[in-house]
Amino acid sequence: MSSLRITYYSADFDEAAWIPGLQAALPGADVTLWTPGAPAADYAVVWKPPQQMLDEQQALKAIFNTGAGVDALMKLRLPAGVPVIRLDDAGMSVQMAEYVCHAVIRHFREFDGYEADMGNGKWSFRKPRSRLDYPVGILGLGVLGERVAKAVAQFDFPVNGWSRSPKELEGVQCFYGEAQLQDFLAASRIVVCLLPLTQETDSILNARTLACIRPGGYLINVARGAHVVDADLLAAIDSGHLAGATLDVFRVEPLPQGHVFWNHPQITVTPHTSARTLRSESIAQIARKIAALQSGQRVAGLVDAGRGY
Ligand code: NAP
Ligand code: GLV
Repeated sequence: MSSLRITYYSADFDEAAWIPGLQAALPGADVTLWTPGAPAADYAVVWKPPQQMLDEQQALKAIFNTGAGVDALMKLRLPAGVPVIRLDDAGMSVQMAEYVCHAVIRHFREFDGYEADMGNGKWSFRKPRSRLDYPVGILGLGVLGERVAKAVAQFDFPVNGWSRSPKELEGVQCFYGEAQLQDFLAASRIVVCLLPLTQETDSILNARTLACIRPGGYLINVARGAHVVDADLLAAIDSGHLAGATLDVFRVEPLPQGHVFWNHPQITVTPHTSARTLRSESIAQIARKIAALQSGQRVAGLVDAGRGY
């Protein structure tokens, strides 16, 4: 590895921790922060890099994305023929399973209502619900969606899943493709979005599709804010068709002060935290993949630029 050069840039993560971490995981490699005019590197490790970095780096063998979603990278002009490799779980799927199970159970068991009652000194019981009336539908059955589907199924909820290609997953009724989206939504009452953001999935949760969810439905969006048409979601909740939503991601982040989602009584928001990039797991995975690529092996997490994920 002695001659390897790694260039690092992140719009969000702290280079003071990542660069020494990558350096330690790749002994002998030269890991430096990208700045304009930096020398050509063999590998780039990035999160939301500027176009200038990709334009200038002419000798890259691969670009590593330090997140699961590559939508920000896909908006850029990428160097031709250079593979893009995204994080492949790296500790994210268990976090996503925790977050989604928590949101599903909080809604199903009405813990939000109990919290409010307890805060008001009110001792009251709500009628138990049947989980058979709350089938959970997962949009996206990839690395994260599959783990979430299995975790939710552990609580005996009926689970549906929707993907681009056909799948078979034990305990999950699988739907696929545009033609089966309506049937998937009609079979689901709690809908969880775990799709990548692409041209096909942008604004996929809109007035038409939200109306297909079972009445009294609930939306959990943990993918990207642009999957949801905000005004259509608000209309679906305010009309009573949907009971509410838990949203971790937004069209504009941080969620602007004064946005109606902040204080809507049926909407719970969190600050894009459902599955964080875990530094040590991610660095270990990227270092393993660089070593594999250097010895001519294939690696998981290769992005298909044509599909956009
Ligand atoms: P993934 O492994 O690439 O899985 C994507 C899934 O979506 C696949 O099952 C894919 O179908 C399906 N899909 C894609 N386009 C589709 C379409 N047009 N119609 C139907 N299904 C479609 O991705 P992942 O690792 O699970 O991550 C999913 C997303 O979660 C990421 O892209 C990212 O945006 C988001 N995320 C959010 C957070 C957070 O903290 N909020 C953290 C991590 C990730 P096939 O299986 O048929 O290809
Ligand atoms: C976070 O949102 C990610 O895509 O990893």
